Amino acid sequence: MNKVVVGAQWGDEGKAKITDLLAQNADLIIRYQGGCNAGHTVVAHNKTFKFHLIPSGILYKGKTCFIGAGTVILPEYFEEEIQGLIKEGIDVTGLKINPLASITMPYHTEVDGYSESTATKGKIGTTKKGIGPTYTDKMARIGLKIQDLYSPELSEKLDIILPLKNKTLKEVYGLKTYTKEEVLDLCEKYAEIFKPYVCFDWQKVLEDAKRDKKAVLFEGAQGVMLDIDYGTYPFVTSSNPIGGGAATGSGYGPAMIDEVIGVAKAYVTRVGEGPFVTELTDKTGDKIREIGHEYGVTTGRPRRCGWFDAVTMKYAVLVGGLTSVALTKIDVFDTFDEIKVCTAYKDTRNGEIYTSYPTDVFIHKYLEPVYETHKGWGQDITGIKEYEKLPENAKKYLARLEELLEVPISIVSVGPDREQTIFK
Ligand code: IMP
Repeated sequence: MNKVVVGAQWGDEGKAKITDLLAQNADLIIRYQGGCNAGHTVVAHNKTFKFHLIPSGILYKGKTCFIGAGTVILPEYFEEEIQGLIKEGIDVTGLKINPLASITMPYHTEVDGYSESTATKGKIGTTKKGIGPTYTDKMARIGLKIQDLYSPELSEKLDIILPLKNKTLKEVYGLKTYTKEEVLDLCEKYAEIFKPYVCFDWQKVLEDAKRDKKAVLFEGAQGVMLDIDYGTYPFVTSSNPIGGGAATGSGYGPAMIDEVIGVAKAYVTRVGEGPFVTELTDKTGDKIREIGHEYGVTTGRPRRCGWFDAVTMKYAVLVGGLTSVALTKIDVFDTFDEIKVCTAYKDTRNGEIYTSYPTDVFIHKYLEPVYETHKGWGQDITGIKEYEKLPENAKKYLARLEELLEVPISIVSVGPDREQTIFK
């Protein structure tokens, strides 16, 4: 069975744990989009590892881990991440980079930083890792790919790219320009960094795995609501975290995918700017943040917290292509008397009720959540390993979410450890 793990909300849903669990039974793990804007922590071998780009499956021996063509790679960050793993004695020989992946150049991070620091209205709240500008250049066909670093035609390519780049850097942003020699020096350095991992025969590796019916795990980053096409645009990332992104970013087509598992928290969090109808700016929000340790791995920012939003989640089931849901952090509600679930939005201008997700996010400021309230279970469920042993109120709550979402909740996570997982 080939599975895709997708974030079903605004990222940070606890994908790392689910990916880690599923990676045990996978032969090939492919990260298909995003870059080092993602961040997750995995505890293994009694140590804590922070991952941004490298699939955490690398912690298991004998797995092939690909950084796919749909990703963008910031070389210095990659270097730091890989050296950290090597220092801890992790065998990284299974790591492969698709030569079609894009490179984040210093001017991309500079433009990202500039845009974020000068924007007042319309600020996105990016991770400032150059993600948007790298994808912009990729789509404008003036980006650099890993394979370019080893190409005898690199110099010729730079003759096309650089005049355009420098004009924009100078005239639009008022930023530093780059000479061809500077960029060639950078490329030489990057070529060395990536050399041990670039997989020029990636087609053969993928073909062989397909022929031998190896189990493939497609690892998504961020979440459906941050998707460039379907998310809360423009407050999104610049790639396709949806299940379909696995088919464009991995090197395999959609027929290779058997299941799409959407990871969602029992509540919602978001970092950065953008609409969030169920956001709680009161004590309840603070309580969720403190119990759930909701602070960003990449930026350390406190996450915005709110009640579970079945409106966006139903949308995520559709556009994300979810076949089931892994619900995480349900134990955060152990001490809650009441748990709310948003089932619709009400337009405060005219009373209109939306049960489908309204994609024009500029009207979201007029929307308020319509909630149903569930009774809490008032007990510690972090030690429960079987679904049947969950308290009745927890089971009722899960059954109601399944009814609203119209897909099964196949995994329930009741704590950070691998053992704290209920397979239904
Ligand atoms: P960018 O991906 O750095 O361009 O940021 C765009 C938006 O996506 C911002 O709101 C970020 O906070 C958000 N974002 C990017 N990566 C992640 C992630 O891994 N988890 C949660 N939010 C993210």
